[in-house]
Amino acid sequence: MAKTLYKTLPEAESARRRNITFDFNYEEINVPTSLKEFAKGKTYHIHTYGCQANYRDEEIMAGLLEKAGFCKGNSEKETDIIILNTCAVRENAEKKVFGKIGDLKSFKVNNKNAIVAICGCMVQQKHIIEHINKTYPHVDLIFGTHNIIDLLNLLDEVITKRLRIVDVKSLPGDIHENLPSVRQSNFKAFVNISYGCDKFCTYCIVPYTRGKERSRKMADILKECQELKDLGYKEVTLLGQNVNAYGKDFKDGSSFARLLDEVAKIGIPRVRFLTSHPWDFSSDMIDVIAKHKNIMKYIHLPVQSGNDEILRLMGRRYTSEQYLKLVNEIKTKIPDVALSTDIIVGFPNETYEQFLDTLKIVREVKYYSAFTFIYSPRNNTPAAKIKDNVTPKEKNRRFHELVKTLEEVIDPINQTLIGKTFPVLVESVSEKNSELLSGYTEHNKLVHFKGDKKLIGEIVNVKIKESHLYFLMGELVDG
Ligand code: 5AD
Ligand code: SF4
Repeated sequence: MAKTLYKTLPEAESARRRNITFDFNYEEINVPTSLKEFAKGKTYHIHTYGCQANYRDEEIMAGLLEKAGFCKGNSEKETDIIILNTCAVRENAEKKVFGKIGDLKSFKVNNKNAIVAICGCMVQQKHIIEHINKTYPHVDLIFGTHNIIDLLNLLDEVITKRLRIVDVKSLPGDIHENLPSVRQSNFKAFVNISYGCDKFCTYCIVPYTRGKERSRKMADILKECQELKDLGYKEVTLLGQNVNAYGKDFKDGSSFARLLDEVAKIGIPRVRFLTSHPWDFSSDMIDVIAKHKNIMKYIHLPVQSGNDEILRLMGRRYTSEQYLKLVNEIKTKIPDVALSTDIIVGFPNETYEQFLDTLKIVREVKYYSAFTFIYSPRNNTPAAKIKDNVTPKEKNRRFHELVKTLEEVIDPINQTLIGKTFPVLVESVSEKNSELLSGYTEHNKLVHFKGDKKLIGEIVNVKIKESHLYFLMGELVDG
C-alpha cells in the first residue's frame, strides 16, 4: 500500500471561522509538464452527487483535466482517472458514496494504474477521511471543496511520487476567476454568484464544508452571462447557497436585486436563481422578478418547518407568520408565481402537533413542488448534539403523511394546467420512452410530449393534455 502524505486536514473548529480574508485571482492555471505527458491518450470520469454547486464544480474539474490533455471517457469501467464528487448534506448521500468507493475496489484491481480520487463536501470532515484511509486503500487522492484549483498539481504528485495524498483545507482561499470549464449542456448553464454560507442553520453542514459566504464580483458574473448569451444559451441559473445574501460582503450597496436586474437585461431567454433564504428576500428582489419577463416566475423558498419553535431551534431566523407575509407579498406582486420548497421532518424532539403546523403551511402556501427530507444528524452541527426522543419509525410515518399532503396540494394545481399552452425548454429524449421529449415549463414543471430530437435545446409551445403528480403529458403546438 502506498504511503499517505497528509498535506492538510480539515478541522471542524476552524471551518467555523468567518474572520478570514480572501482575494480575487485572475491568473491562468499552469499544467505541470510531466502531467501533460502522462495525460496523452488518457481519459477521466467524474461521478457527481448532490447539489448544483457540485454539478458546477464537476464542469470546472473537467475543464482543468481537459486543459492538461485528458479526454472524457466513454465508460466508467475503463477510465484512467475516476473522481467521486461527494455530498454530505444527509447520511443517505454519504452511504451511497461509501457503496461506490467499495465498488471501485474491483475497478482498481482491473486497472492497476488508474487513479481513484474523492472530493466534495463529504471529505471536508476529518472522520470521513480517517474512515476512507482505514477502509479503502485503493483511494489515491482526497482533496476538498477549497482546493479544486490544485487538482492538476495534486494528480501530478500522486503520479510522480506514487503516494496517496490528502489535501483538504478547512478554510477557503481566493476566488478564482477564468478557470477552464467544460459545460455539460450547450443551452442551459449554471453560474456561481457566491460561494459558502453564513447562515449556520443548526442542522446543516454546508457552512462548514463550503466555508464563509463569498460573493463573486458583479462584473465577472455579468461577463460570464454575456458569454453564455453570445453562445446561444437559453437558460441561466444563478447559483449560491443563499443567493439573496449576494453582495452583502462588499458593503458597497451591492445586492442580489441589482445583480438580477443586470443579468436579466443581458437578454438570456430564461433566468433562474437558487436558493433563496426567506430571511434575506427583499422587496426590491420581488420587484425585479416581477419587472422582467425573462426572469422565471418560479421561486424556490425553503420553509423547512411550519412551526415557530422548531424554526427557532433550526436557527432559521423567521417565524411562520413572517414567512407567510413574504409569500403574500410575492404572490401579490407576481400573481402568476410558482413557489417550491424544502421541508425537513423529524427535527430532534419535534412533536406531532409541531409537525401538523408544517402540513398547515403546505396547505396555505400551495407549493407547486417540494423536496422533502427526514432530518439526518450531521457531525459537529448544533442540532446533532440534541438528544432526540422521536423514533425513526415515527419520522418515517410523518414523512409519508407530508408527502400525501403535498400531493393533495399539487394535484389540483396540475389539473388547472390541462388545456393550457406553455413554453417548454426541451431538455432531452425522455428517459422512460424514447419516442417522447422531456422539458420544463417556466414554472419548472416536467412535461413529456412527442417531437423531433432536433428540438432539444429549443423553447417550444406545448399544450398540456394530462396531469400526473410528478410530470405532465403534452402535445407540441408549433414546430
Ligand atoms: N437533514 C435533513 N435535511 C437536511 N437539509 C440540510 N441539512 C439537512 C439535514 N441535516 C435539507 C434542507 C436544505 C436542503 C438542501 O437539504 O431542507 O434546504
Ligand atoms: Fe444550510 Fe441554512 Fe445555509 Fe441553506 S441557508 S446552506 S440550510 S445553513
